[in-house]
This record gives sequence, C-alpha cells and structure tokens, in this order.
Amino acid sequence: MNPKEAGPTVVVEEIQRRHKDIWALRGVSLHISAGEIFGLLGPNGAGKTTLVRILATLLRPDSGRARVAGWDVVANAARVRAATGLAGQHSTVDGMLTGFENLCLIARLRGMDRRAARRTADELLDRFGLTDAGGRLVKTYSGGMRRRLDLAGSLVGSPPLIILDEPTTGLDPKSRLDTWDAVGELAAGGTTVLLTTQYLEEADRLADRITVIDHGEVVAAGTSDELKAAAGSRLAIVVGEDHQLPTAVRAAVSAGGNSPTVDRRDRRVETVVTDGQSALARALSVLQDEGVDALEVGLGRATLDDVFLGLTARPRPAVTR
Ligand SMILES: Nc1ncnc2c1ncn2[C@@H]1O[C@H](COP(=O)(O)OP(=O)(O)OP(=O)(O)O)[C@@H](O)[C@H]1O
Ligand SMILES: [Mg+2]
Repeated sequence: MNPKEAGPTVVVEEIQRRHKDIWALRGVSLHISAGEIFGLLGPNGAGKTTLVRILATLLRPDSGRARVAGWDVVANAARVRAATGLAGQHSTVDGMLTGFENLCLIARLRGMDRRAARRTADELLDRFGLTDAGGRLVKTYSGGMRRRLDLAGSLVGSPPLIILDEPTTGLDPKSRLDTWDAVGELAAGGTTVLLTTQYLEEADRLADRITVIDHGEVVAAGTSDELKAAAGSRLAIVVGEDHQLPTAVRAAVSAGGNSPTVDRRDRRVETVVTDGQSALARALSVLQDEGVDALEVGLGRATLDDVFLGLTARPRPAVTR
C-alpha cells in the first residue's frame, strides 16, 4: 500500500526511550485511527512529551517503531513532519516577532509562497481571536495568547495529524473552553488529534479513546466509559452525627474500599469499590450492626479521577540492565 493512502493514523509499537538512568518510555504501544481525538493521559514525568517528541521526529526512540500516516518516524522523518502539526508543551513562538510574522514564518517553512503565507496567517489569527494582537510582538502576549498562537501555528498547512502537548495548561477557563471547541472543530473536519493532558476532565470531554501512561508504561486504555467501568463504583455514605463517622468509615472499608476519603464538614465518606452491589450490601450490614442510621448510602459511577488515581500511584521501576 502507498503510505500516503494509509490515512493519518498513528501506530506506535513497543517504543522504548531512556534518558540516562530513567526509562522515559518502556515499551509503549498504541494505535490512533484516522479522524479520532486520542487522549494521552499521565501525571508529571509519565513520558507524554517524550512520546510526542518521538512522533514529531524531534527525538529518536532507542527501540521500537512508530509510523505516522504510514511513514516511519526515523526513516521518513521529513514525510512525517509534513503530515504533522505540533503545538509543544512549551511555547516555541518567537517573542521578538509579531504574531502575524510568527505564523508567516511557519507557513514559509512549510513551503507556502509569500501570499499564501500571509493569507494563512490572517485566517488563523482571526480564527483564534488574535487579529487585534497580530501586529504586536509576541513577548507582549499573555500566556493564554501565546498558547493560542502555538495552536494556530500547528494548523498551518492543514496537516492531517495535529499533536497538542498539554494545550490548555495555564489557560483560564474561558480560553480552555475555546481551545476545546477548536480541537472539537478540527476533529469534526477530519483531522486526527493526539492530545496529551494531565486533566481528566479534558480527556473525558474531548478524547474518543484514552491511553493512560505512568512511568513510561501504558497502565490503561479504552474509552472514558470503559476506563470508568473498569475502575469500579463509588460508594458514598453520609451520616448525621460526627460520632457516627468512624462507623461510616468501617462500613466503607468493609465494602472493600481502600483508604476512603472523609469529608468531616458534610460527614461524608466516599470510596471506590470493585463489586458495587455486594459492596453496598456489606456496607449496609456494618451500619446496621453498629446501629447507625445513615442519611444517605449510595452507589455511583467511578469518575475518571478514580481511574487516574487508582492507576498512577505506583513507584517508578528502576532501570535494570
Ligand atoms: N532530556 C532529558 N534528560 C533527562 N531526563 C529526561 C529528559 N527528558 C525527559 N526526561 C525524564 O523522562 C521522564 C519523562 O519525561 P516527559 O517529559 O516525557 O514526561 P511528561 O509526561 O511530559 O511530564 P509533564 O506532564 O511534566 O510534562 C521524566 O522522568 C523526565 O524527568
Ligand atoms: Mg510533558
């Protein structure tokens, strides 16, 4: 098959990458389908940026393979770059140029002639609400404006794959919502989006599928609903009196919940349990045995926070040679 006809899919196979004595990635595999928004979720140091840099051909893997739109990221780096727009975690726009000049520069580097570059720059400034600021040096921009300009820069030339490394970190709520809308629009237009984030809400809201990585390894993969279902259920017990709280905690623990959270003000104990219904029955029986009439005992769906915390709280494995 001609790689160009393979579509802007991403295939990552057993990628390993070490930085000195730290495994940044230790055998990560994933597959992103054409037109999908794919969320790569992980805490600080999980290896997200390392994978992004490998896919953007800025860093070579030590072993394993990755292909973008059918092209190998090492052997066909130029093809991969042509098919990919990148908005890195840290702003790469030049503070000593204006927003307009930055976008023109990117467009020229992507092979556009002067007129097409200027037109593209104007369109993108408009699309990201930067028209008024377009003539100003970027060093005078706020952090949010820089992020928007980065995002605009990744769209120059309409590449079929956009990689966004923590696109909303540091943005205010309004700019975050605007960015989410922009990403949604891109995907609706057929662009494949790889998005890294530490924000569960963001992955939940945007991503068709999510892969959670921690310490350079995939710890879970699936849709947001699948991940939540796998995390179990959330058991909540609310009591009316302070002295009943210890019983509520015992009930939660006997339901199988590890380290329940206790909200003393609301007298609310919550925990994640694996077998929802029988866990509920066990909790109720403890409450009954100890003579506590709870105000509320309920079972709800696990949140993506539960998934994340349940999966990413392990120590980092050491490098063994
Ligand atoms: N150039 C480097 N030299 C040494 N160690 C590095 C280098 N780049 C990354 N690392 C280490 O590799 C691991 C993965 O880093 P990476 O930047 O990929 O994580 P991340 O998931 O992007 O984290 P964050 O959410 O903080 O951006 C970390 O332990 C980091 O300290
Ligand atoms: Mg990072």
